[in-house]
Amino acid sequence: MQEKLDEIRRSVQEQLLAAGDSAQVEQIRVSVLGRKGELTALLKGMGKLSPEERPIVGQQVNALRQEIEAALAAKEAELQEKEKQARLEKEALDVSIPGKPVKVGNVHPLSSTLEKIITIFTGLGFSVVEGPEVELDHYNFELLNLPKNHPARDAQDTFYFNENILLRTHTSPVQARTMLSQKPPIRIICPGRVYRVDELDATHSPVFSQCEGLVIDEGVTMGDLKGTLDAFAQAMYGEGIQTRFRPSFFPFTEPSAEVDVTCAACKGAGCRICKGTGWIEILGAGMVNPHVLEMCGIDPERYTGFAFGIGIERVTNLKYNVPDMHLLFENDLRFLSQFGKGRV
Ligand code: PHE
Repeated sequence: MQEKLDEIRRSVQEQLLAAGDSAQVEQIRVSVLGRKGELTALLKGMGKLSPEERPIVGQQVNALRQEIEAALAAKEAELQEKEKQARLEKEALDVSIPGKPVKVGNVHPLSSTLEKIITIFTGLGFSVVEGPEVELDHYNFELLNLPKNHPARDAQDTFYFNENILLRTHTSPVQARTMLSQKPPIRIICPGRVYRVDELDATHSPVFSQCEGLVIDEGVTMGDLKGTLDAFAQAMYGEGIQTRFRPSFFPFTEPSAEVDVTCAACKGAGCRICKGTGWIEILGAGMVNPHVLEMCGIDPERYTGFAFGIGIERVTNLKYNVPDMHLLFENDLRFLSQFGKGRV
């Protein structure tokens, strides 16, 4: 019997030495300790022994069983440790490898110009109002004194969806909507994208951005308009910048003006950018036409107001001496990354 037990012990030891993974260890366990295992068979055969032998053999078999269980557990633990080591080696990180640089973008020049415009006007007490880019003819033209077939519509020929729905040609419809929904005093700016059937050239694009403004209250005069735009031009381009009003025509303002600022590049001396005049046009403005006030439900006897429309691309290009507005739309990183040093 002792020999048989020694043989089993040796055989298990040999097999364990050769075992390379948990599945093999399990196989050994089944072949020795399982229901049909060698040691189990020995225990089952104990009935045939004499009553004196039985407890002795029983003890020996149990001792071997415990020994084998311990050996199996030890092997299992050893294998798990090895597997862990192998996994750790495979997953090893070299923390000394230099990181990949993360490309940090910068604010688009049009956005930073708009941010600056908004900061200036909110500082003057204006609030920001937005409206739809797909607009009704009624708000885009009719309420602004541009009835159907009015010749001034030609200057803003637009993209129509049908007779009544179009892509807005300016952000003035937001002003009409505001006048209809708010009572004076009104002091708003309306930034946003606008669309016109324009040829692509250095200063025109079928899509561009505007920031229009509207002030309505009792006793508002052209002096207020000039003072506001002076304050804007100086905050935008620096002190010493002047504005110049030239008579113009818009159906929704009377009188109307086109407004120039001192050319920032030559400080008014005259250069290539301002074509030698010392001035650059940046916006249209005027006193709100009383007929527009009336159509929008505001009493023109009691209230007056002024409005202006700033071209954001214009203002941006002037600030940075950018020769072609399309550079602002083409998203060429070689151009855009030059504005990485922050805002206007
Ligand atoms: N809406 C005009 C345009 O887009 C600009 C403007 C606004 C002019 C307000 C005068 C007053 O051309």
